[in-house]
Amino acid sequence: MERIYEDLVDSIEDGIVVFDPSGNIIVFNQMAERIIGLSKSKAIQAGGEEVLGKNGHILEQLRKTSSTGQVFADHDTYVIKKTGEIMQVSLITSPVIGSDGHSEGTTLLIRDISRVKVLEEDILRADSLASLGILAAGLAHEIKNPLGGIRGAAQLLQMELGKNQELTEYTSLIVRETDRVSGLIEELLDFANPKSLDLGEVNIHKILDAVVALFSRSDEGKNIGYATEYDPSIPTLIGDSKKLGQVILNIVKNGCEAMNDHGTLTMVTRIASDYHLHESKGTRSKMMALDIIDEGDGISEEDMKMLFTPFFTKKRGGTGLGLAVSHRIIREHGGSIKVKSKEGEGTTFSLLLPLPLKEG
Ligand SMILES: Nc1ncnc2c1ncn2[C@@H]1O[C@H](COP(=O)(O)OP(=O)(O)OP(=O)(O)O)[C@@H](O)[C@H]1O
Ligand SMILES: [Mg+2]
Repeated sequence: MERIYEDLVDSIEDGIVVFDPSGNIIVFNQMAERIIGLSKSKAIQAGGEEVLGKNGHILEQLRKTSSTGQVFADHDTYVIKKTGEIMQVSLITSPVIGSDGHSEGTTLLIRDISRVKVLEEDILRADSLASLGILAAGLAHEIKNPLGGIRGAAQLLQMELGKNQELTEYTSLIVRETDRVSGLIEELLDFANPKSLDLGEVNIHKILDAVVALFSRSDEGKNIGYATEYDPSIPTLIGDSKKLGQVILNIVKNGCEAMNDHGTLTMVTRIASDYHLHESKGTRSKMMALDIIDEGDGISEEDMKMLFTPFFTKKRGGTGLGLAVSHRIIREHGGSIKVKSKEGEGTTFSLLLPLPLKEG
């Protein structure tokens, strides 16, 4: 019977520590070993004060329970492990009442909430994106109509002015700038309310070739060199070709802009043997990596922290949505983006994408 109790206590996903009335530890389950970072035998030998040494706040909560006989809970606190590492936990202390109604000690329940915290942050981010969506939809409505009016009036004026070159320059400027604002609103709408992926077969090398062909003729990309190193063993991926193309375009465009007409942009595809992805069915698939390497001016540590934040831009006329959108599209594909940069030397963006599972 005792064995069953011990197995039961050990199989619980919370740390359980039970103290007798003189403060000795009598139960210390496996999760408690992991959370505090001490073996059961050592904990029992050492006693409560020493085991929780650096955690004065936990000892205090235990004392409150043992002196009042009441349950105390703190759902947003921390524990300092023996290694000095800090873990976010929730703590519940409760008295152990014997069958005769007397206190037989105190129980401490410790729950690791670090994963919950990560989820909370994700939800907060999703929440702020959702409110951005509502804001964007409202803005689009309120701004697009008057903008259309301004554009139409400028065009009429342009026709009236006819040959007056000097003045028609101003009216074309109005038309151009209203188009820019319209485009920005479209982009914002797209970012805030993205359409779902249109999945199909994706030939990543074909996309890369098309992007190079496009950029080598564009203003920002015509004066730089392009190099590609493709791994021919990379199979057809399953994804949204158009959206993945947009991601590659965004990153290549940033690379070109950072290089300012000098250097070579290199694109490498490879099987990322060191990364695996857990599929929903519990199987694992390999990942492929696409490195987009520029020889631009690099990204400072300070800017690095802001990189994927919507509207972070250091460019005149930039929206700061390029990387935020790209990040989301790659995540929707079950992949991730990594960045390495050295100021003055260049930047590498690595896209990791899951390879389709082999049949059978
Ligand atoms: N390859 C790179 N080298 C140096 N800085 C970069 C690079 N990629 C991004 N950045 C920095 O990150 C910022 C954000 O990039 P992002 O693509 O999201 O927006 P943007 O390029 O400024 O605007 P848009 O994409 O709308 O033209 C850029 O303004 C730039 O400062
Ligand atoms: Mg950009």
